[in-house]
Amino acid sequence: MKILVTGGAGFIGSNFIKYWLKTHPEDQIVNLDKLTYAGNLENLKDIESNPNYKFIKGDICDRELVNEIVKDVDQIIHFAAESHVDRSILDSTPFIMTNVVGTQVLLDAAVKCGNKRFHHVSTDEVFGALDLEGTDKFTEDTPYNPHSPYSAAKAGSDHLVRAFGDTFGLPFTISNCSNNFGPYQFPEKFLPLMISNLVEGKKIPIYGDGKYVRDWLYVDDHCRAIDLILSKGKIGETYCIGGMTENVNNLELVKKVMAIMGKGEDMIEFVKDRAAHDRRYAVDWSKAQRELGYQPQASFDEYLAMTVKWYLDNNDWIKNVKSGEYEKYYQKQYAQ
Ligand code: NAD
Ligand code: DAU
Repeated sequence: MKILVTGGAGFIGSNFIKYWLKTHPEDQIVNLDKLTYAGNLENLKDIESNPNYKFIKGDICDRELVNEIVKDVDQIIHFAAESHVDRSILDSTPFIMTNVVGTQVLLDAAVKCGNKRFHHVSTDEVFGALDLEGTDKFTEDTPYNPHSPYSAAKAGSDHLVRAFGDTFGLPFTISNCSNNFGPYQFPEKFLPLMISNLVEGKKIPIYGDGKYVRDWLYVDDHCRAIDLILSKGKIGETYCIGGMTENVNNLELVKKVMAIMGKGEDMIEFVKDRAAHDRRYAVDWSKAQRELGYQPQASFDEYLAMTVKWYLDNNDWIKNVKSGEYEKYYQKQYAQ
């Protein structure tokens, strides 16, 4: 089978390509990635010479290029996106272009080339925010209520995928997952940011009161969940994917990482809150467990220790991605 992976040089996409080539060595992967600031071919160094892997530098909004690639593949797994909420607050234009228009270009190509099997990777952020005091979770039936330009653009892409299924019979599935963590995550996201700041002796910026809750999902579990959806999922269905945390807030998360790294609480700095900051995310993944056999493979604390170790062992990777554009972004984002 030949699979088009979009955004395969990013965090989840690169982990997914390596996972797939290991577990399905007979398949071929074409990775289409624009190499924005978040795309990094270093993430794929160990498989770049695999004969079943091909990289194409390009934009998913480039209709001609996308049509050319799509006609030659069996399946599309769509990761490419602008993915960082804070950047969508600074400038939402690239989010609309890539997440909405880019998805539409891919969907058009999938239909035009004979209704190719399409898996769309989306987020729990499309559902909005849960109350901090509540115990409820997002399910596949939760109404959409996005609050950031990022999540609104992802919501738009989800609606387009379903509309192409209804209108043109496109065989699709969608996964809405929670916050991923693990190796090769760009250090604008909270976990790699806090680890790399601590390594450099810099404080950890905590937005607002720090009592914001996320549902942390190890990236390998996410990759396995997508594999299960492709092999056992029902066409036209959505699957919510989450991890093993229960109400760990940002402050508690920072303290866990500081304990692993032997750092004290003087490294915490409370900073201005994010606009429209969603209080709590929690994902009910019982449908994926029941229908696909999805189950995270280790505890949150085990995965967290593995993740901290990976960043400590791969300091050069962090140094490389933090050079250039990152420093300018950091100054702008964290200027008080
Ligand atoms: P990322 O920002 O690390 O990577 C995005 C990749 O897409 C980069 O390699 C970038 O170069 C590429 N890209 C961006 N615009 C492109 C374009 N126009 N054409 C081609 N390539 C383009 O993102 P990630 O964290 O790996 O997220 C992957 C997907 O998973 C996204 O769709 C995101 O919305 C979704 N998601 C992420 C998380 C998370 O916690 N990281 C959680 C839920 C859902
Ligand atoms: O829920 C899934 C989403 O998770 C994905 O759709 C997004 O692509 C991904 O970026 C992530 O969004 P979040 O906004 O939840 O992740 P982020 O790492 O930016 O922030 C996690 C939490 O930490 C959030 O409550 C904001 C807070 N935070 C973040 C940063 C960068 C801080 O307190 N300080 C920071 O410096």
